[in-house]
Amino acid sequence: MIDEVLTTHAREPVLAERGHIPSLHAPVLAAQASRAPALCLRQVCLSFGGVQALEDIDFEVRRHEIVAIVGENAAGKSTLAKVMAGVHRPTSGRILSDGADVTINSPSAAARLGIATVFQDLALADNLDVAANMFLGHELKRAFILHSEEMENAARAILDDIGARIPSVRYPVANLSAGQRQSVAIARALLAKPRIVVLDEPTSSLSVTQTGEVLDLITRMRGLGHAIVFISHNLADVQAIADRVVVMRHGRIVGESPMSYVTYEDIVAAITGATHTLPAPPSTRASRVVGAG
Ligand SMILES: Nc1ncnc2c1ncn2[C@@H]1O[C@H](COP(=O)(O)OP(=O)(O)O)[C@@H](O)[C@H]1O
Ligand SMILES: [Mg+2]
Repeated sequence: MIDEVLTTHAREPVLAERGHIPSLHAPVLAAQASRAPALCLRQVCLSFGGVQALEDIDFEVRRHEIVAIVGENAAGKSTLAKVMAGVHRPTSGRILSDGADVTINSPSAAARLGIATVFQDLALADNLDVAANMFLGHELKRAFILHSEEMENAARAILDDIGARIPSVRYPVANLSAGQRQSVAIARALLAKPRIVVLDEPTSSLSVTQTGEVLDLITRMRGLGHAIVFISHNLADVQAIADRVVVMRHGRIVGESPMSYVTYEDIVAAITGATHTLPAPPSTRASRVVGAG
């Protein structure tokens, strides 16, 4: 019940902005919602047997924000994404959605809270077309007949919203480039009108041109009001679109900064452990060191 209330409240600003839901309460709800982060993790720990995969994770993301999570292989980035996605349940710690404590104990609980995740394996069905892939498992049926025209129109609308370059929603996914496939997987996640979108390495297997297209699309999503968690080990991509960067090392967050305050070298040094953390932004420099030690 609380999940439903949160989800409804939280989604209205984005939906109202896009003209989908005229709501008398939208301005009030938008004001309330803008105060608290869309999603917030406090002291989250996760161990697999004896292995501590996540330790004391403090993380938050807000609407209209792209937060990048960077780190070496096995730093814990995908595990953190899976906690937000309800695939893994933390061993301890709190998760807050729009300021209220929540439990994300399954992927469907994450979906109810308006959290959508695109994992590294896009899980697309090559033999089906774009529209069918986007609605896979959620087909629109009327009187038990699949309503393909409605699905195609809805698929087209979302692809257009985010500026995805897909010539036809009737193209089999097998015929698409890697960049277009990534766009379809992202558009599929947006069908549920999530508040928070978690993208795990969306550009890792893409050419330069395809990467540019997917980064544009993620930027458009920020403009639509989504809170975006962008996991990447490509720092050029991160510097191109992220508002904030969070560095993970050995399952911990070792540094966090607005993008504009840190250099490429600062981030590399924090990732590799050459420095303990990122330089703190000027306003907090005297008082705060994140995860040092
Ligand atoms: N299901 C699992 N069972 C046991 N260990 C896991 C599991 N998933 C991830 N790990 C371990 O957690 C650590 C972090 O992995 P991961 O989150 O995939 O890193 P990243 O995405 O940063 O490369 C690794 O040491 C990995 O082997
Ligand atoms: Mg990973």
